Formats: sequence, structure tokens, C-alpha cells
Amino acid sequence: MHEIALHDVAFSYGSQTIFEDINFTAYAGEFVCLLGPSGCGKSTLLRLLAGLGQPSSGRLTLDGSPITGPGLDRGVVFQDYSLFPWMTTGQNVVLALNQAFPGNSKAEQAETAQAYLEMVGLTDVFHKLPGALSGGMRQRAAIARAFAINSPVLLMDEPFGALDAITRARLQDLLLQLWQHNSAERKTVFFVTHDVEEAILLADRVVVMGVNPGSVRSVLEVDIPRPRRRQELYSDPAFAELRHKLIRELNADVLEKLNHGRTVQSAGEAI
Ligand SMILES: Nc1ncnc2c1ncn2[C@@H]1O[C@H](COP(=O)(O)OP(=O)(O)O)[C@@H](O)[C@H]1O
Ligand SMILES: [Mg+2]
Repeated sequence: MHEIALHDVAFSYGSQTIFEDINFTAYAGEFVCLLGPSGCGKSTLLRLLAGLGQPSSGRLTLDGSPITGPGLDRGVVFQDYSLFPWMTTGQNVVLALNQAFPGNSKAEQAETAQAYLEMVGLTDVFHKLPGALSGGMRQRAAIARAFAINSPVLLMDEPFGALDAITRARLQDLLLQLWQHNSAERKTVFFVTHDVEEAILLADRVVVMGVNPGSVRSVLEVDIPRPRRRQELYSDPAFAELRHKLIRELNADVLEKLNHGRTVQSAGEAI
């Protein structure tokens, strides 16, 4: 089991509270998408889950044990989690494989690295430095690295945001395949996206965060059977309803602020 729990988690930069009162449990094998406006702290929260920082208060646990640092039990793909620029792309993946599976031979590791690079559509990059790749290719190499170590937990921060629509669809399908590969050992996935439709396609549950300070605004279950095929999904009334709900939740913060502004303004006019 690989259950991730957040208890009363808060995070501040100096006196600025980024988020607070975060209480949520991702159950073992669950696919959770995190949606929220820019700046609400999604990336910060994911970094805490990766063990790359500590909360200002509260607790984050993996199977009941506090998360105190990075670990091979969590594969991460961050927007800024780049590859080591001085190693070839292949060596970057091999390095991770070497840490995850130190018993495997160099040849095996190189073969696995190449296989995962090919899986994300990178056939000819093994010997190239990351600097020689496009941003989208580097992002795919980072995804290949996270997939290759086959960790029970995946933390992904808008991993497909910068990719073209066809590559994105392919990688979404690949991610779902890897997640469901062996249902007895299904991975627990935390996936940040700003794309409502992507969240519905992928998630078991969608956590919507609000801003100023960030907090969990609502948690919605995606009660649409799998496999979810894009064409059918988009014409499914349940999809339309959920999409509408999520967009309303996402916009609620903004609307509340606008309405608040209006109230203040009309109170001013009355004086
Ligand atoms: N190193 C930092 N120092 C101060 N503030 C930061 C730092 N990193 C991020 N922030 C602020 O924290 C907030 C949340 O950032 P982030 O987690 O990147 O949000 P999101 O991923 O939801 O867009 C933003 O307001 C951002 O400006
Ligand atoms: Mg972010």
C-alpha cells in the first residue's frame, strides 16, 4: 500500500502564507489530479510531497511515516526538474535506474533506458546532451526517467502542458497504461494540471484548490468508468456535467473576489 496523507498542512514564505489547512488522503493506487489557479501553491505542495521541502506546519505521510526527504519510492516530473546538462539524455535515465536497481548490469540499464525513451517517442536521443533537445523533448526524457524507475508513487507537475496535442494524448494513454499495468500494485499518482478535461480523463478524484491563501476548495469524484475513450468521453453527459462543475469551482474564487469588489464599491457609492 502507498497511501499519501496530508494533515493540516500549511506553507509560508516568510510572512506570506501560500496555503493552509490542507487535509487530504490519496488512497493506495488512487489517481488524484490537482487543479487550481496559478499561484495557489500546487507546485509547492508537490515539492513537499517529493520531500524537497518541509511544511511550515502540519504533517505529510507516506503509509503513515513522515516524508522527510526525496526517495526512490516517489518518481517525480517537475516543470523545472531538469536533466543534468553535463550527462547525455541516456545517462540521465541510466543514473536513475542505477539508483533504483543497483543490482542490474550496465547493459541492462542502458537497454531499459533506451526502451523507456522510445516509449515516450524519443528514438534518437540517448547520446545527445539535454541542451541539444527541444523543451518538449527534455520534458519527455524526464517523464521517461520517472516511468523507468517504476516507483509506486508518481508526482507529476503539469508534465504534458508544453507538449503538442498528439504527443500529449499518447503520453496520457501511456501513463494510464503504466498506472494500471498491474492492478494489484497500482501506483498512487498525484498529477497537477490546469486542464479540466485532462483531469477528468485521468483522475479517480480531482482536488480543486483555491487561492489567497491556497486551500482545498472541493474534492470531486470522477465517476466515469474506465477505460475512458476520448471520443466517447466528450459526448458523455457525465463528462459535460463534471466539466461544468469543475470550471465553476475553479472560477468561484475569482467570482467571489469580483463580487466582493462590487459590494465594497457599491457601499462606497452609498456613502
Ligand atoms: N522561492 C519563493 N519565494 C517566495 N515566494 C515563492 C517562492 N516560490 C514560489 N513562491 C510563491 O508561492 C506561491 C505558490 O507558487 P507555486 O507553488 O509555484 O504555485 P502554482 O504551482 O499553483 O502556480 C506563488 O504566489 C509564488 O509567487
Ligand atoms: Mg506550478
